[in-house]
Amino acid sequence: MANDEGVVQAVKDAADILEVVGEIVSLKKAGVNYKGLCPFHGEKTPSFTVNPARRSFHCFGCGEGGDALSFIMRYQGIGFWEALKQLAGRYHISLPERELSPRERQTASKRKELFAINQQAALCYHQLLFAENGAVARNYLEKRRIPLAVINDFQLGFAPESWDFLLKAMADVGEEGLSEAGLVVQRESGKGYYDRFRNRVLFPIISHSGKYLGFGGRILDNQEPKYLNSPETLVYTKGKTLFGLFQNKEAIRRSHRALIVEGNFDLLSLVAAGVRDVVAPLGTALTSQHIRALKGYAQEAVLLFDGDQAGIKAAMRAVPLFLSEKVAARVVILPDGHDPDTFVTEFGAAALEERLAAAYALPEFVVSHLVDKHGLDLEGKGRIVEELRPLIKAIDDQDLQRSLFVSHFSTKLGLSEEQLLGAVSPPLAVSAYQPVQTSATAAARHLKISYTMIEEQLLSFLIIYPEYVGQFVEEGLLEIITQPSAANIVKALQELHSKFPGCGAERLLDQLEGPERTFVSRQLISVPVLPDTEREAAEKIAWLRENRQKQRMRQLTARINEAQSKNDQELLFSLLLEKKKISERE
Ligand code: UTP
Ligand code: MN
Repeated sequence: MANDEGVVQAVKDAADILEVVGEIVSLKKAGVNYKGLCPFHGEKTPSFTVNPARRSFHCFGCGEGGDALSFIMRYQGIGFWEALKQLAGRYHISLPERELSPRERQTASKRKELFAINQQAALCYHQLLFAENGAVARNYLEKRRIPLAVINDFQLGFAPESWDFLLKAMADVGEEGLSEAGLVVQRESGKGYYDRFRNRVLFPIISHSGKYLGFGGRILDNQEPKYLNSPETLVYTKGKTLFGLFQNKEAIRRSHRALIVEGNFDLLSLVAAGVRDVVAPLGTALTSQHIRALKGYAQEAVLLFDGDQAGIKAAMRAVPLFLSEKVAARVVILPDGHDPDTFVTEFGAAALEERLAAAYALPEFVVSHLVDKHGLDLEGKGRIVEELRPLIKAIDDQDLQRSLFVSHFSTKLGLSEEQLLGAVSPPLAVSAYQPVQTSATAAARHLKISYTMIEEQLLSFLIIYPEYVGQFVEEGLLEIITQPSAANIVKALQELHSKFPGCGAERLLDQLEGPERTFVSRQLISVPVLPDTEREAAEKIAWLRENRQKQRMRQLTARINEAQSKNDQELLFSLLLEKKKISERE
């Protein structure tokens, strides 16, 4: 662990906070700072501020603040090491490898092997699509209006009607490797293998970081099953990967939005129509992992579901996932009989954008659907509560989102929270009586720190120029600072400075939390660089000295008064002498 600190710092030093934050928040220069709309709370005028020189950010609206690393942690909802790994990868800093057990090492190398096998297979299938016997698949793709650029971008391929095309094409890899990658299947007799994918258009499934995990394949005629995906392997797990994220992540990042469609061809058609910020979940229902995968790229998801019952069910099931992952979601229900593929083909991208602009927020959508379905009479409400019950149950009961969900739906349905919760679980109904802490009140709590003006002045100076902390303390800083929270900051500054002389105070952020952290990040952003630091420090030190003197005099005077009232002549004399000495020194 001793070395960790150095590595962490190296990563932080390399990270460009403007770049990291700028990817998510559109920032405009304002003096030495940059401003934008805070990604952590809703706002219409920018109070989110980045100071690149001090490598820190602070939001004057909600009090959130920190450095590039904590921005990533907070924004993506991930832990310290995961965020560190991301930043390290991005700025090409190698983190020391944790010692792997022999077994872990073996798994890691096996995974690498399977990525390579899948990648090689993708190339074989892609090349075959353009070979002479690929005509049937090329025609199919043409019929489905998938242009060449999209075919290449997604590296679509063709698995021919053959039991051993891949076995032969990748004979060098060997049957066992191909089988572990899920590309070939062992014959029931146990003797030999055959190709899993036959007579299909293939979609390589690629992780967001570019690793080849497996394939999805659509049959070219009308045999069953229509789609066949890679089986679960060491590298492919259902419900974890989003088709298209790898190819479309930049577009998603730019638009801050991710459209989610059900079908692979829906995705390709949208891309062909120029709508690139889209992903598809590869045949499984949406999972939290899918949503987490999107989090780093988009602030909002828009579900594009068919207008049928299945689409509505899927939207309902997605509600608690989005609530608990804290990602905003909206829903577009397409006209009857249309899926995104047929819709965009028939009406075009502009018509789709119109629908997207008018999309309901996901919870609103659920309410209006439930009200349509059951009505709002007593019986209807009962049925609605019944349908909402599993959704509420799916959210962690400690989670703020659950309270928000309950309060949202109870208001909409004209029910009391207890009525809605009563059907869920009695203990929660009790806790619902306690004041719910919304993120707004949490933010207010963060900001509620009030130092005296003098405390604030001294602290802000030291936060920017921590090298003076020792001198200030010597001159009596801690006698002036009375609030424990301000004293905490001074202590942290002292510690930091003794450990890392000369380091910037943004490192303080790691040692503080809550209101103190908010205070520090605010100062980092708002205190200007001083033209003459030395003079400023000297003035403050003089002030501290004088103040200490005055304080001593006050204490002395009080003791003198006391000695007088007690008529203690001896004590009185020595106190008066002391007072004389002090005033002479002045
Ligand atoms: P759809 O049948 O709606 O797919 O299934 P689609 O893309 O619209 O298909 P076309 O337009 O008929 O070609 C939605 C998704 O569910 C998965 C696939 O990922 C498909 O894209 N799926 C579907 C399977 O995994 N297996 C199946 O048997 C069917
Ligand atoms: Mn379709």
